[in-house]
Amino acid sequence: MRNRVEILHGVNLDQLGSREPEIYGSLTLGELETQVRRFGTELGLELIFEQTNHEGEYVELLHAARETTDALILNPGAWTHYSYAIRDALASTGLPAVEVHLSAVSEREEFRRHSVIRDHCLAHIEGKGVDGYSDALVLLNEAFERS
Ligand code: DQA
Repeated sequence: MRNRVEILHGVNLDQLGSREPEIYGSLTLGELETQVRRFGTELGLELIFEQTNHEGEYVELLHAARETTDALILNPGAWTHYSYAIRDALASTGLPAVEVHLSAVSEREEFRRHSVIRDHCLAHIEGKGVDGYSDALVLLNEAFERS
């Protein structure tokens, strides 16, 4: 049975809580992880959390993902908008993935409106804060149940 979901946070997301709280909310990354883990456990999912500020490390986590997880939730931070390296690594996993952003990226600056990973994801969720991760878990759980 597939039930593992890896949640990969990218650059600057370790600064949640103190970083522009009016945009990203006041939860720290640790607090966000606790809430999302609680929700995932209720769904019977096993969650793995990773965060890095190093693009190559994010790519290597994606390379390893085929062995370590059944699905992905990606919030690569600013890399979302320009990292073809992350896009290619995601494509190579062949895993179901959901793109999540805490803020409403499509309503912010022009450069945030574009995502280079979106067409390799089942769905993208933005502007819902921590609830966006719960929505992503529901979608992935439904995908597990269908297959
Ligand atoms: C973000 C949106 C990105 O544009 C930004 O660079 C981030 C966070 C979000 O979760 O809203 O670092 O991915």
